[in-house]
Amino acid sequence: MFEQLKTLPADPILGLNQTFLQDPNPSKINLSVGVYQNAEGLTPIFSAVKKAEQELIDAQTTKSYAPQAGAPDFIEFATKLLLGDAITQALGERAATVMTPGGCGALRMGAELLKQSKPSATLWVSDPTWANHYPLLESAGLTLKRYTYYSSETHGVDFDGMLESLSQIPEGDVVLLHGCCHNPTGADLSQAQWDQVITLLGERNLLPFIDTAYQGFGDGLEQDAYGLRQAATKLPEVLIASSCSKNFGLYRERVGAVTVVTQTEAQTGAAKSHILSAARRSYSMSPYHGGGIVGHLLGRENLRAEWQAELENVRKRMNKLRHGLATGLNDAQSKIDFSFVADSKGMFCYLGIPTQDVLTLRSEYGLYLLESTRFNVAGLSEKNLPVIVERVAEVITR
Ligand SMILES: Cc1ncc(COP(=O)(O)O)c(C=O)c1O
Repeated sequence: MFEQLKTLPADPILGLNQTFLQDPNPSKINLSVGVYQNAEGLTPIFSAVKKAEQELIDAQTTKSYAPQAGAPDFIEFATKLLLGDAITQALGERAATVMTPGGCGALRMGAELLKQSKPSATLWVSDPTWANHYPLLESAGLTLKRYTYYSSETHGVDFDGMLESLSQIPEGDVVLLHGCCHNPTGADLSQAQWDQVITLLGERNLLPFIDTAYQGFGDGLEQDAYGLRQAATKLPEVLIASSCSKNFGLYRERVGAVTVVTQTEAQTGAAKSHILSAARRSYSMSPYHGGGIVGHLLGRENLRAEWQAELENVRKRMNKLRHGLATGLNDAQSKIDFSFVADSKGMFCYLGIPTQDVLTLRSEYGLYLLESTRFNVAGLSEKNLPVIVERVAEVITR
């Protein structure tokens, strides 16, 4: 049965992590994987999450199946976290949320829904986008194409190029947008740019599929939801894939959600039934534990406030580190102006150095970034920052 199988290459990001782990260099530093790390290089559990988990376990009396769409309190509060209370209330049954195994599960279920609704639709992704969007969404049977997004000259969004590119997309297609903290570039749309993009999507009858995996990591919980809230208010239909991996630190619990907004309650009911059917055909229903924790936490004032304060500290610390890197590099050399690093949002940013320098940093200094030059801002620390600055400055000025 299996003798004809050839071993596949490792996932580029997970594979590089494996190479890092095997690297004997004692002063190696990993800036490649998307996980938050504190000053000690650990990925701690938020204390509010730990408390919510304990309370959940203490109150639990059964491990019987939960509703297929997921923990009811998770569905209510996760939807409100995304859309805000007022929009959630205004949309009522026109919006439906289904709990999924992480943001990946949400993206995949969204793609399955699109495949059922309009198999001929093309899904347009930003150039560049998170590498896993391709295998994850294409394997649901969708065709992916790219729209212009990033300028490596300005190290920011090529907004004119983006508008031009979006205006060429055939009506009825789907546009995947990053809700905030664009992965891999860290270059986000401003609120005014979101407004323009949403107007254009409306005019051209394009469906936004918004992937939001870092709410709270950019400008704040509310600010980071600006684009998707505007889309849900101004457009008749929106699809959202959200993840609780980063902002609740629940990576391994695999919790996320797919939210669909359509023009009528009946259409939303139909769309939800297709999502549930796609889930049933694959993993049946999402694991409960992570969503149970999030639902419990968000439903309790004290835990929610504690979590928000912790998340805000994480966001501010990352901002300080990104500014530290930009200033440190600019002080250490004058070949490249790294001020754009300070303007990036979220966990990732392109460093914009030659690929050869990325490889040299890896082989000579054990400093790991992706070849695209994407690095994890949360992998920086007060301790490793001076070393990183020194190594990068030395290699790029050789
Ligand atoms: C842009 C983007 N979308 C979705 C995800 C999915 O995350 P998860 O499946 O771990 O919740 C990630 C994770 O890195 C991401 O960066």
